[in-house]
Amino acid sequence: MSVLPLLDRYERPLRDLRISVTDRCNFRCTYCMPAEIFNERYEFLKRERILTYEEIARVTRIVVRLGAVKLRLTGGEPLVRQDLDELVRQLVAIDGAHDIAMTTNGVLLPKHAERLRDAGLQRVTVSLDSLDNAVFRHMNGGKADVDDVIKGIEAAERAQLTPIKINCVVQRGVNDHTIVDLARWCKDKGYILRFIEYMDVGNMNGWRMDDVVGAREIVERIDSVFPLERLPRSYSSETALRFRYRDGSGEIGIIASVTMPFCGDCSRLRLSPEGSLYTCLFATQGTDIKTPIRNGASDDELEAIIRNMWTARTDRYSEERTEQTDKRPKIEMYYIGG
Ligand code: GTP
Ligand code: 5AD
Ligand code: SF4
Ligand code: SF4
Repeated sequence: MSVLPLLDRYERPLRDLRISVTDRCNFRCTYCMPAEIFNERYEFLKRERILTYEEIARVTRIVVRLGAVKLRLTGGEPLVRQDLDELVRQLVAIDGAHDIAMTTNGVLLPKHAERLRDAGLQRVTVSLDSLDNAVFRHMNGGKADVDDVIKGIEAAERAQLTPIKINCVVQRGVNDHTIVDLARWCKDKGYILRFIEYMDVGNMNGWRMDDVVGAREIVERIDSVFPLERLPRSYSSETALRFRYRDGSGEIGIIASVTMPFCGDCSRLRLSPEGSLYTCLFATQGTDIKTPIRNGASDDELEAIIRNMWTARTDRYSEERTEQTDKRPKIEMYYIGG
């Protein structure tokens, strides 16, 4: 990394790279890949269009050279891509990338957890929206039971991919009546639960402000059963507001992108499976890095592309959000991985 950090127009450094390794997923969450759209006729990316592991590692090496220290593997569902441990091995070997984790829906973890740990993955975040099986199945498009995810979480624990974080997207009238149960379970198990406000990512989920349960309400509901107190952020660009249980039995986080946006410290860059870089989760357009790679660009040339893109960055979507911005064409969540 150079002596001076690379800063965007609002002086935000580049610190994290979220790598989406596939646009495919074995779930059909209603808020992300609605089954009516993502059916057997839907055309996912063909193999030759997605970056190889070598290409991903090369881009990552350059982004790390520009200051990124935290890497997150996402999808779609990252574990549907073959031999993901191979990519992990290549990423772990990059000097300077010292925080490598994966966000997954968990059902393929029993098969892969051990190998991922051996390859050097440090921890996992598992999405689990409810412990009520009917609610959960409704939200994931009928693709899995709660028990399938729990088996995955237990496999991750055995493989020491810890501390385990659990992500729960809260939708009013869908799963909000089950959040206290989930909190109780995570508290007993020692998992860090993070509630995510339902966001208007992409253009397909029919998002409405009325469906959002805001951070304040989530905290009040948990606090009324398990008293909470606020914790400081662990680092400035952390997405989650943190709280700990007053009885000392662990912590929860709230990712309040809608009611308390955190763009001011956003240091995240995202790489799509097809090889485009996005400077915001709500971006309309990305910067194609695959074409220059496949046309033989040098590392310095690739670095210049990324540098120019980051220094021109002005994204702050969540701070600008209105009913109108929701209508902008946006990249889809399943494609950019949250
Ligand atoms: P750690 O908590 O550091 O281990 O990383 P993580 O990837 O598990 O969590 P992170 O806080 O980075 O992201 C958790 C979730 O928050 C994501 O899956 C998204 O749903 C949401 N999120 C992450 N980054 C952003 C962002 O830049 N903007 C918005 N609006 N939401 C984000
Ligand atoms: N709003 C909030 N969170 C979402 N996720 C996917 N779509 C949305 C949305 N519209 C979550 C997933 C996963 C993480 C990657 O992002 O449930 O936990
Ligand atoms: Fe798949 Fe995650 Fe999207 Fe659900 S939220 S469809 S698990 S990528
Ligand atoms: Fe970062 Fe965009 Fe999310 Fe704001 S809305 S925190 S700029 S990714």
